[in-house]
Amino acid sequence: MSKVVFSGVQPSGNLHIGNYVGALRQWVQMQEGKEAIFCIVDLHAITVSQEPRELKEKVLEVAALYLACGIDPKKAHIFVQSENPNHPYLAWILNCFTSFGSLERMTQFKDKSQKQGENATAGLFDYPVLMASDILLYQTEEVPVGEDQKQHIELTRDIAEKFNSKFGEVFTLPKPVINRETARIMSLQEPTSKMGKSDSNPLGRINLLDTEEEIREKIKKAVTDSQTHISKDKGSEAISNLLTIYAAFKDQSLEVSISELEGKSYADFKALLADLVASHLLEIQKKYKEIRSDESYLRQVLDEGRDFALEKSSQTLKNVKEKVGL
Ligand code: AQP
Repeated sequence: MSKVVFSGVQPSGNLHIGNYVGALRQWVQMQEGKEAIFCIVDLHAITVSQEPRELKEKVLEVAALYLACGIDPKKAHIFVQSENPNHPYLAWILNCFTSFGSLERMTQFKDKSQKQGENATAGLFDYPVLMASDILLYQTEEVPVGEDQKQHIELTRDIAEKFNSKFGEVFTLPKPVINRETARIMSLQEPTSKMGKSDSNPLGRINLLDTEEEIREKIKKAVTDSQTHISKDKGSEAISNLLTIYAAFKDQSLEVSISELEGKSYADFKALLADLVASHLLEIQKKYKEIRSDESYLRQVLDEGRDFALEKSSQTLKNVKEKVGL
């Protein structure tokens, strides 16, 4: 039996190059020879406030971006989380096997709830249990993600282990698959913070659908340090981040990239980086436009994905309900 791979992205804003090199690109490699399932996690997106019409549009945008980035619907199943009610159903059951204290320790909740203050919702607190359900419903073995999701996958394993020790081998224990070099792409303006969809400074993030002009401007304005040229070591956090992006888009190691760029002025390096990122993203955007304009095709891919997801996840949910006595 081929290994099950599962992952997802929230349709909560603009997909950026952190999502791409941290997660999506790994998905493309992992769809080969495995049972790959990729979800658009809209139920996660509503854990913070969303504009309903925009959310609907973003779901289709993200689906089209999955395909434009190289996810092949002949190899992978793509579906929208809210179209499979088994996800929130299992989440409710797993809530009853998850301690309050373990959720309080989640760093993403701490960070996001701090930003939200009084408005932080119970859904935001419970996000990791829904994520555990997403993963466990499909008997997933591998979850390709960026570094920020590692703690949630560890919690998923803890929940599964607890459930299995009480009821027998119900869930497969998943493991995170994290690409060491690209696990945490940082903001171009604040290189100590992760590049994220919700960063209030748009200059910190390069979106997959940014225009060439925007891409060039953001790279030009990216913060550097007090040096002027690329040197042998990785340099400051800011330069190291730009070098990581360069290496990722060149599809080569950081070491090879540094030896290639050593001695170049920061201005020359930024110009090369802008060319590289722009040409790569413009290629993705060309495919995206074609796919997004054919909504009936997109809907067909998502319908097939939903049917598959419903069938596969129902087997796990049925077993769980029996075990629990429902
Ligand atoms: N900066 C990043 N570097 C590497 N991987 C990243 N991922 C996210 N940011 C980076 C990975 O992308 C996948 C989807 O994550 P998400 O939908 O939670 O995206 P996000 O950008 O983190 O969006 P948020 O949570 O809506 O925004 P923020 O963080 O700004 O509050 C995951 O595999 C993730 O690890």
